[in-house]
Amino acid sequence: MSASSGDRFPHVPVLLDEVIRYLALEQGDVVLDGTVGSAGHSAKLVERVGPRGLLLGLDRDREILPHARRRLATAAGRFHLVWALFSEIPEVLERFDVAGSVAGMLFDLGVSSLQFDRAERGFSFDRDAPLDLRMGRGADEPASALVNRLGVEALVTMFEEFGEEPRARAIAEAIVQERSRRPVVRTRHLAEIVDRVAPRRGAKIHPATRTFQALRIAVNHELDEIDAGLAAAFDGLRPGGRLAVISFQSLEDRLVKRAFKEGVRAGRLREVVKGALKPSAEERRRNRRSRSAKLRVVEVVGAENRQGES
Ligand SMILES: C[S@@+](CC[C@H](N)C(=O)[O-])C[C@H]1O[C@@H](n2cnc3c(N)ncnc32)[C@H](O)[C@@H]1O
Repeated sequence: MSASSGDRFPHVPVLLDEVIRYLALEQGDVVLDGTVGSAGHSAKLVERVGPRGLLLGLDRDREILPHARRRLATAAGRFHLVWALFSEIPEVLERFDVAGSVAGMLFDLGVSSLQFDRAERGFSFDRDAPLDLRMGRGADEPASALVNRLGVEALVTMFEEFGEEPRARAIAEAIVQERSRRPVVRTRHLAEIVDRVAPRRGAKIHPATRTFQALRIAVNHELDEIDAGLAAAFDGLRPGGRLAVISFQSLEDRLVKRAFKEGVRAGRLREVVKGALKPSAEERRRNRRSRSAKLRVVEVVGAENRQGES
């Protein structure tokens, strides 16, 4: 998803019906939502597992948990909300004594509309705000610290690797020049610098979208988090347990695709959905944020069905 969705509406869960269908949960199951957000998906997941089951809803953003709690309060099911990162899933599963017995997990990657809508978090460059972009736990310094500290080469690498930005060098050089006059600490200021060196020229997305995406990924160590989360999911699910991952940009999706492929090749996972599922035309029309979404689902192969394992 781009760094600015322009989405002013409450968070509408993406690919909800598909997630519910392919996770195929039953009453009494344990399910973990690693990105509980405002509990759009979790509200349905908790109903599926019911009062005999358990939903563990994790989010790195502490401010979002009360929204999830409100939404889940009326659901007919048992749940616990935990302020935690993907990389902390192993400890969370130990704490609730459910390691290796989870029936389903969901990671709905990216930023919640609630986070976009809090202008002061700096996710949306449509509105001027501090250049922060921290999603919560595990993100120590704001994006402005990176923008004002890193040298040209480090900025180029970040914009190329995390933003897939073709104008990375020009943008990095413009930032370094600008900050020698005045530190770059506001979203609008950064967006203007990018706009000057890489103007829009009829492009569908704002020229600064990739720069903000790169900063968000760097500040929040997002790719390392995804790697850690996938590994924790494969270990924490029971045989036959399923993991559904929704990603909004190619960098994230590529990581997921690769990890799933390796698991399938090792005989540890089975693809439940061949390739990636996309939202229907109807959903894309209803919810603009869903347009770039891709859903992948795998199942942990039972020990008795594994090939090539002694
Ligand atoms: C797209 S939103 C999820 C929305 C949710 N599915 C809903 O329907 O309301 C992604 C959420 O995941 C959280 N998040 C992102 N990366 C995370 C990580 N590594 N560990 C824990 N939470 C994370 C964000 O703070 C955000 O609230």
